[in-house]
Amino acid sequence: MSAKSNALTNAQQSSAKAPANKSVFSSFRFPSGLKVKNRLVKAAMEENLATIEQVPSHTLLTMYRKWAEGGVGLILTGNVMVDHLAMTGPGGLALEKSSDITTFTQLANESKINGCKVVMQINHPGRQVFSKMGGKVLSASDVALDMGKHSHLFGQPKAMNEAQIQDVIKRFVQTAQRAEEAGFDGVQIHAAHGYLLAQFLSPLTNKRNDNWGGSIENRARLLLTITREIKQACGAGFCVSVKLNSADFQRGGFEPADAQDVVDMLGELNIDFVELSGGSYEAPAMQGNTADTRTLAREAYFLEFSQAISAHSSVPIMTTGGITRLPVAQKVVDSGVALVGMATALAFTPDLPNQWQNHHGVTSALPKVTWKDKTLSGLATMALVKRQIRRVGEGKSPQGKLSPIISLILDQVRTAKLTKRYRKRFSDELS
Ligand SMILES: Cc1cc2nc3c(=O)[nH]c(=O)nc-3n(C[C@H](O)[C@H](O)[C@H](O)COP(=O)(O)O)c2cc1C
Repeated sequence: MSAKSNALTNAQQSSAKAPANKSVFSSFRFPSGLKVKNRLVKAAMEENLATIEQVPSHTLLTMYRKWAEGGVGLILTGNVMVDHLAMTGPGGLALEKSSDITTFTQLANESKINGCKVVMQINHPGRQVFSKMGGKVLSASDVALDMGKHSHLFGQPKAMNEAQIQDVIKRFVQTAQRAEEAGFDGVQIHAAHGYLLAQFLSPLTNKRNDNWGGSIENRARLLLTITREIKQACGAGFCVSVKLNSADFQRGGFEPADAQDVVDMLGELNIDFVELSGGSYEAPAMQGNTADTRTLAREAYFLEFSQAISAHSSVPIMTTGGITRLPVAQKVVDSGVALVGMATALAFTPDLPNQWQNHHGVTSALPKVTWKDKTLSGLATMALVKRQIRRVGEGKSPQGKLSPIISLILDQVRTAKLTKRYRKRFSDELS
């Protein structure tokens, strides 16, 4: 075990930082100067509510207004793609050099009411592309997703060449510049959950022996280069953050000690904050499930890792996963972790922060689908959450009890329609 792993294990076992005695409702200022009114953050959720032009729809604008009204200090958007030919799913947003930013500006404005701030999450799926979508399936190496009997649903990736790597760097920077132009307070670079940048970080998917593979310095080079270039290209007050896995939760994958190294490297770039999550499509730890024997906490899945990393770093840390109750959110802040991320709870209860101000005991149920087929359970959970988001975006109230099976069927039908729309729209460019 390396010295770093030892330090991390020791820190995990200790109570880490002394309680900061800060309320979740206290304000927080990022290194770039951006100030949020409280520590509660709406974490990224891909809604699949873009128009055919891959820009925000009216439904999406309504949903973001509801979140801003609901009392969070910061909204992280669902992931926005840096390349319209490399999409995590149909109905997704893409923001490129030539995109019309009118509705992105509206999205920023809707999100900024009630003193809320908004940061756009930007992403490239790498190998996590559904075969039915088509388009580019690129990765660090040609390692395909292993989803057991569902593996065929995903494309076979090609190892990226130098020109493709440079193209991706340029695209991330351009998307960040467009987000700034549209009025967003910052960007979050998605380097978690098994997407492209996580594929470069993980030894399981990065088998390269050039400058982009091997040591953790080399595996992190793509993320670091993108972060550095975005910071150079955007204004000094523009908030730049990264979503990072605390671990892949797969043996031989990206480990907590790697995460600590990457946070240290990002700290040298004076990054605003790192959101810690975990897992990928293969091992969906972010849904509270792990593929290996290490267990996650029942609530605040990644708090232990976040606390340990936070104790060793000057970079503000945010933890996301499983948080639905105020005492748990407060425990996060008390343990020295700066920000509390919530996704599912805010899809079901968009005004949870406002409710917590008056009734400390209010909680938001997380949908838990426990079918035997873990992949289908995961898809049904996502479908339930997205259905809730659509309801609120359409001006309806959230509904506590929705059937997982019906939600999954509706989602599959909707996804098939949106995939067809996407393929037709880009038939000239898709292979
Ligand atoms: C419907 C849905 C879509 C999601 N989309 C994204 C995304 O675009 N980017 C991202 O970083 N995480 C995404 N996530 C993961 C969440 O940000 C979060 O890490 C995870 O759901 C755990 O937090 P929670 O327990 O509060 O939901 C998504 C989660 C759900 C349920």
